[in-house]
Amino acid sequence: MDKSIDEIYQEAHDALVGVSDLEALEAINVRYLGRKGRLTAFLRNIASLPPEQRAEAGKKANIAKKKLEAAIKDHGERLKAGVEKREEGIDVSLPGRPLTPGALHPITRITREICDIFERMGFSIAEGPEVELDYYNFEALNVPKYHPARDMQDTFYVSDNIVLRTQTSPMQIRVMEKQSPPVAVIAPGKVYRCDSDLTHTPMFHQVEGLLVDDQVSFADLKGTLTAFVHAMFDAQTSLRFRPSFFPFTEPSAEVDILCVMCRGKGCRVCSHSGWLEILGSGMVHPNVFRSVGYDTTQYSGFAFGMGVERIAMLKYGIDDIRKFFNNDLRFLRQF
Ligand code: DAH
Repeated sequence: MDKSIDEIYQEAHDALVGVSDLEALEAINVRYLGRKGRLTAFLRNIASLPPEQRAEAGKKANIAKKKLEAAIKDHGERLKAGVEKREEGIDVSLPGRPLTPGALHPITRITREICDIFERMGFSIAEGPEVELDYYNFEALNVPKYHPARDMQDTFYVSDNIVLRTQTSPMQIRVMEKQSPPVAVIAPGKVYRCDSDLTHTPMFHQVEGLLVDDQVSFADLKGTLTAFVHAMFDAQTSLRFRPSFFPFTEPSAEVDILCVMCRGKGCRVCSHSGWLEILGSGMVHPNVFRSVGYDTTQYSGFAFGMGVERIAMLKYGIDDIRKFFNNDLRFLRQF
């Protein structure tokens, strides 16, 4: 006997690995376990060993034979299962479907882009609750109960004094309650209004900004927002500050940018005005400072709030806000 039983077994076992059809498997079965097979021959030769070695060698060879039979049977079953699947129309030998990596939702991307721009200017990020006290959402922002300014936003009430926040502005109060000036924060998040059409969804996203310090002026507001718009769109995108009203700022301004589609010539997107409104802003109203105990003679500040979907629609040229929330992969994959 020139090879040991261990070597014969190992060789047979290695040969099994590459076997992919039943015919080749049967050839291995014959080569090792057939009447003239190598393992069979080994077993037969045991009789010619010296008597004291026979028992030990016989035991080892029988174990190897059983293991090899089991391995061949097992391999055969797996091959047959594969053939059956193929007959059913499932080809198990085909390569798997590639898993495409996921990507960020366009709203997440734009939110991060907005926050990044302000973080580079020294603002930090603050986040807060979406189920908010009436006090933070309205009252501390100079919107008393029954004030007509409440009609500017269709509010979901949870109870008499709890609402789904209609804006990210309550974060101004939450931040100032905890921190004394200087303050420079950006607050991104979801907001809710009872509203639904081509340009409104009941849930959407806003980014709020607040800066408070000694001697903050309207010029700081203009400079900061101009830098933001130039970073978000491009340096050719001019801005227009239009007088407006918000209860928590005085004076207040809405900011328009030159239409990103027609560059001011007038088109469907800008309703032929050449301008697009993108955010609300103003100098923080003294009543807002009073509600957090800031000294109104020492500090001044500016605030602003913008809709993320609106910015995303302008940046990507999307005409229906609902597309962001339909979860249609054909739409989402484009970003
Ligand atoms: N909260 C306002 C809204 O939802 C947007 C806004 C306007 C935020 C003026 C501000 C601001 O901070 O100063 O329409």
